[in-house]
Amino acid sequence: MGFEKSFLPALPFFFLCSLLLNNGVEASHKVYVHLQSISAETVKDLHRTGYHFQPTKHWINDPNGPMYFNGVYHLFYQYNPKGAVWGNIVWAHSVSKDLINWERLEPAIFPSKPFDKYGCWSGSATVLPGNKPVILYSGIIDENKTQVQNYAVPENISDPYLVKWNKPDNNPLIVADKHVNKTAFRDPTTAWLGKDGQWRITIGSRKKEKGISLLYKSKDFMKWTKVKKPLHSVQGTGNWECPDFFPVSKHGTKELDTSVIEGDIKHVMKISLDATRYDYYTLGTYDTEKDRYIPDKDMVDGWKGLRYDYGNFYASKSFFDPAKNRRILWGWANESDPVDDDARKGWAGIQLIPRTIVLDPNGKQLLQWPVEELETLRGKKVEWSDKKLEKNDRIQIEGISAAQADVEVTFTFKSLDKAEPFDPSWDRYDAEKLCGQKGSTVQGGLGPFGLLTLASENLEEYTPVFFRIFQDKEDKYVVLMCSDASKSSLEDKENMYKPSFAGFVDVDLTDKKLSLRSLIDHSVVESFGAKGKTCITSRVYPTIAKYTHAHLYAFNNGTETIEIESLNAWSMKNPQLMNQ
Ligand code: FRU
Repeated sequence: MGFEKSFLPALPFFFLCSLLLNNGVEASHKVYVHLQSISAETVKDLHRTGYHFQPTKHWINDPNGPMYFNGVYHLFYQYNPKGAVWGNIVWAHSVSKDLINWERLEPAIFPSKPFDKYGCWSGSATVLPGNKPVILYSGIIDENKTQVQNYAVPENISDPYLVKWNKPDNNPLIVADKHVNKTAFRDPTTAWLGKDGQWRITIGSRKKEKGISLLYKSKDFMKWTKVKKPLHSVQGTGNWECPDFFPVSKHGTKELDTSVIEGDIKHVMKISLDATRYDYYTLGTYDTEKDRYIPDKDMVDGWKGLRYDYGNFYASKSFFDPAKNRRILWGWANESDPVDDDARKGWAGIQLIPRTIVLDPNGKQLLQWPVEELETLRGKKVEWSDKKLEKNDRIQIEGISAAQADVEVTFTFKSLDKAEPFDPSWDRYDAEKLCGQKGSTVQGGLGPFGLLTLASENLEEYTPVFFRIFQDKEDKYVVLMCSDASKSSLEDKENMYKPSFAGFVDVDLTDKKLSLRSLIDHSVVESFGAKGKTCITSRVYPTIAKYTHAHLYAFNNGTETIEIESLNAWSMKNPQLMNQ
């Protein structure tokens, strides 16, 4: 698939199509053979990000093996060294001391042995006792994309950046047995220790249309055996990529190492659904006796479930940061422009700002928030308080660079009376459809209100990020959050993907407040609703609203007056080291 479009309503049909198109081989990235090895002659600056991570040129996808080791954060990622579309995949490697400034190193893992000759696909890092890092990754061993699991270890453990990685000759560690689909067998997780002292990992797979997270066990990290029953599986969800399985603390602020499997915790199971290209998660319990994950009763498991992000965010991976006792999540955002444009630009794909994840005190979802280090990039500031947004108001947030900004705003309103009724015939799992119908210019009662980001002065182009509140039953409200790319660019080529991304926000409105934070960075708008309950990322390509011609507004197109209780907006500086 070229674009992260939602195929939700047509899921079973989509399976058939995808299988036919790929001759039965699972390959989630569209392959453009003619572009795969065409090196970018020039790199176009327009739409490149200022503070979101990207290499100097060419294609990137999944974040891989993030870890903290001896004072250094490591980020590896899927990278095509030869072109601006997917292919020739290696593990590129960057290091940082603050998650903001990144130093680029040479690729750490690249095809060179029979067990990864056709590609070094995604995987994870585990720091073993004795402070020994090890990477597990999926190697592609033939033209049919047969997948095996390999390991790599640092050549010199006292090199502070761990530049060189060795792939010992006893690889591969794991091959698919006859019950496992060998072209849908990839993306090993960080390992955790069971009570029996054995290591465990889970690997994404599928059996017909059932998505599966296979479980493997090992005493010594070298000899792995498959546990008969998978850690988890869900019928009708298709291929699972990049599973992630980790504990979150039920109380308090300290997060936990992946090997913490008991105590006052819940477990999170995240899967990247190949068929829809979104990252879904459930909260649940890890039954350590049966070695199975059981989602909580009220969780929706599968493509109607909770998503990390309701926009362009895929193949994410988390890691535990022992330096600050937090869990950090990295996600990849693909381009939404046509592939020929990527070839012309000479680059494609960014990593989103790393987010901390914690359990919402309500125990029903996660909360995500940009890592605090990002705030060191905040420059010039604009501050508002108690500003009224009457019906049809649009007020410019002036004095900062609107193309590269961080905006935090809290909206309040006096009453919920004007909330429009929520039509029971609307699909509760299709917020995107609702946002497509009830866009930012469609007059409402309580909302739409929010921000117009990357806007041209006369609104030929803009990406609105906004809320709209509906009344469901007596005192029950439904909050819709949208990040709508449909008017983001005058460029209107076929294949320019401009979705009205949206999610619902499970928030208590008793205090009649809603907050929004948006990270704006030239071609990306990453938004966090209600303190990180609902997150939406859009990739957009303004032709007028670029650089100093980009504007930022607060708006209200509902009849109920909205008050901006507080607004803090900053120009964002470029990190000293990154993206050059
Ligand atoms: C997800 C994914 C992984 C695979 C990698 C290949 O985007 O398809 O399943 O390991 O990308 O680059």
